[in-house]
Amino acid sequence: MHSQIKVKSRIKDYSVNFVNLNEIYKLIGEDYHLAVVDKNVAHCFPKFGLGDLIVIDTNEDLKSWRGLEKIFDKFAEKKVNTQTKLVVIGGGVLQDAVGFCASVYCRGIEYYLVPTTLLSQIDSCVGGKTSINYGSRKNILGTFYPPCEILICEEWLDGLSREDFCSGLGELFKFDLLRNRIQFSSINNILDNKKTLSEDIYESLLYKVHFLEIDEFDKKERKFLNFGHTFGHALEITSKYKLSHGYAVIIGCMIALNISKTMFSYNESDYQISLELAKKILGNTVSVEKSWFDYESLMECVMSDKKNTGCVNMVLIKNGQPIVQKIEDYSIIDKALKEVYESI
Ligand SMILES: NC(=O)c1ccc[n+]([C@@H]2O[C@H](COP(=O)([O-])OP(=O)(O)OC[C@H]3O[C@@H](n4cnc5c(N)ncnc54)[C@H](O)[C@@H]3O)[C@@H](O)[C@H]2O)c1
Repeated sequence: MHSQIKVKSRIKDYSVNFVNLNEIYKLIGEDYHLAVVDKNVAHCFPKFGLGDLIVIDTNEDLKSWRGLEKIFDKFAEKKVNTQTKLVVIGGGVLQDAVGFCASVYCRGIEYYLVPTTLLSQIDSCVGGKTSINYGSRKNILGTFYPPCEILICEEWLDGLSREDFCSGLGELFKFDLLRNRIQFSSINNILDNKKTLSEDIYESLLYKVHFLEIDEFDKKERKFLNFGHTFGHALEITSKYKLSHGYAVIIGCMIALNISKTMFSYNESDYQISLELAKKILGNTVSVEKSWFDYESLMECVMSDKKNTGCVNMVLIKNGQPIVQKIEDYSIIDKALKEVYESI
């Protein structure tokens, strides 16, 4: 088992530690440490039924103004102050919302992150981004506020539903495409229970950390990690969040690949391999609705995304490498949406 990844940050350096559950129980027991726990995790692990903790029911709605009020109310109830160290135990939603609150409450309180979903272990836990949605705009309010430490324990993943587990594979799918190694993807073996995840979690985090250390504030190279997210975020909105983040990213990746095929002759055989893998991950748990792919609605979301200002900039693959590309001919997008909807 790997033990640690160190992350250099302009805000403060921190580390990702690979631990077992006992070390997390110990952390919660420390003075001034207050655990904020996803309700589904508290339920799965009765040991967390003891002690002082805040249990929160999570879904994408938590990442809203109303959701923040709920969290701030709990902070006030538990008398959270500048001495308090929060231990946030949950998936990407809890991390984004409580991380945001921690960054502004008392002008910033310390927090530790214990990611409990595959998506949050493989991707969202590093990078220091906190965010909430506002109106119909996804992740539009946010801060860069890294935790003191991230503690990864794979045991949490045993409790995940098949849908949440497969959603987490969405970010691994994205990394495999970005690294131009979709032919060698381990996702097939993971889905067939022929492989454990530790190596993939470690490698995905290392890959992301490389981009964070050269462009922490998302001005240049880190934008490549947005691959699949332009239409992924838009699909989350048009589906009213029925499509979970990882699944939306998978479909968003297929749309970006389809456009890469039209504009930059992305390899047809890699496209077909990616499509088969995408379908295998989506499996029977997701039934995609045609209305979510409505061109006008999706384009409205894409145009108001924070990474676009009245035009479509998206990450594509050219000659095996990611690039940020402005799309001028929208008929290419229209064609990609239709083809991906019909094939997925
Ligand atoms: N900050 C970032 O850099 C970043 C990066 C990628 C995604 N995100 C955000 O992450 C969010 C998605 O995160 P997610 O996929 O982890 O979803 P999530 O946090 O909603 O978790 C999915 C479901 O799993 C449950 N759950 C969590 N841990 C569990 C466990 N161990 N056992 C059983 N159930 C468990 C949750 O209660 C929830 O119902 C999106 O809002 C996305 O925008 C943020």
